[in-house]
Amino acid sequence: ELIGVVFGGRSPEHDISILTGLQAVRALSSKKVPVVPIYWSKQGEFYLIDSQAEAKDFANGLPPKASPIYLRLGSEPGFYQGASGLLSKSKRVDVDIVVNCCHGGPGEDGTLQGIFDQANISYTGPTARAAALGMDKLSFGSLMKDLGVPVLQRANLDSTTETLPFEGPYIVKPRYGGSSLGIDVVEDLATAKMRLSANVHLRYGAVVEPYRADLFDLQLAVRSFPELTLSPLERPMKRGTAGEILSYKDKYIAGEGMATAPRELPAKVSHEVEKKVSEIVHKVASVIGVRSVFRVDFLASEGDELYLNEVNTIPGSLSHYLWIEPKLSFGDQLMIYLEEAKSSPST
Ligand code: DAL
Ligand code: MG
Repeated sequence: ELIGVVFGGRSPEHDISILTGLQAVRALSSKKVPVVPIYWSKQGEFYLIDSQAEAKDFANGLPPKASPIYLRLGSEPGFYQGASGLLSKSKRVDVDIVVNCCHGGPGEDGTLQGIFDQANISYTGPTARAAALGMDKLSFGSLMKDLGVPVLQRANLDSTTETLPFEGPYIVKPRYGGSSLGIDVVEDLATAKMRLSANVHLRYGAVVEPYRADLFDLQLAVRSFPELTLSPLERPMKRGTAGEILSYKDKYIAGEGMATAPRELPAKVSHEVEKKVSEIVHKVASVIGVRSVFRVDFLASEGDELYLNEVNTIPGSLSHYLWIEPKLSFGDQLMIYLEEAKSSPST
């Protein structure tokens, strides 16, 4: 059985995905699982990568040992490798299951999942439907609000927006995006609207929320197989000045992705908060359908206010570092996700 680990993709979170993908390749190799790293370039091509590749090899683009492969759609699943680009002369790379390590963009929004479904390729992570819903902050937030889950107010922002249903300051976020990229705190609606043309991350849509400097992040991982299981809560700790939102830099620049960012784990929270968190996670899971591992992000105050912020259906480092009680290695987690992918098809 051959496992393909796919990472990269045409996404602002491309580089983070390389970290996650290579971590997964290492973890599977340590379990003696036959694995092929498949890199999805920023141009949208798939490449077979030497399994010894390191993140630094990607610093200036493709690593030295990369050969193009072609994803074939049709009755026969498999990636095809070809030097000339002619499929008829190409070498075929059959993968039984793909571990999807793509963050953001088409790898996490249902596009890649739809391609795999059509090509009869099994994969880990969200179904196309769950991925699309999880990536859309506006739809997901409205749905959760309708279901009675506590969420901060959130409104659509576009060039026609004339009023907002809440007071500033505001936090502006890409409607479809992750890793804190493109997030801004602004004082008023006029400034928020100016960001629409100035900020490339907002080109597919933007949402606005009230900015609350008194709230902090709380998050946990949830896996679905063999039954719904919640990790302890994590409180990511900011490196920046107090009151700042957790930035891309806080999350990724200092180390090997999410796994080394400073945190309180388990987070010290009241039983009341823990109970509320668990109820919300169960509701989220029943509505969106967890597959492999999702990370559910909350905002909380010292006064035990709690709001659901969002769900990440392919979280950074696949949240492997959160499974501490009982401790489960990343390799063992991946074995569970592969087992799930085999036993519960995505379509
Ligand atoms: N979008 C990033 C990778 C995360 O949520 O962890
Ligand atoms: Mg996110």
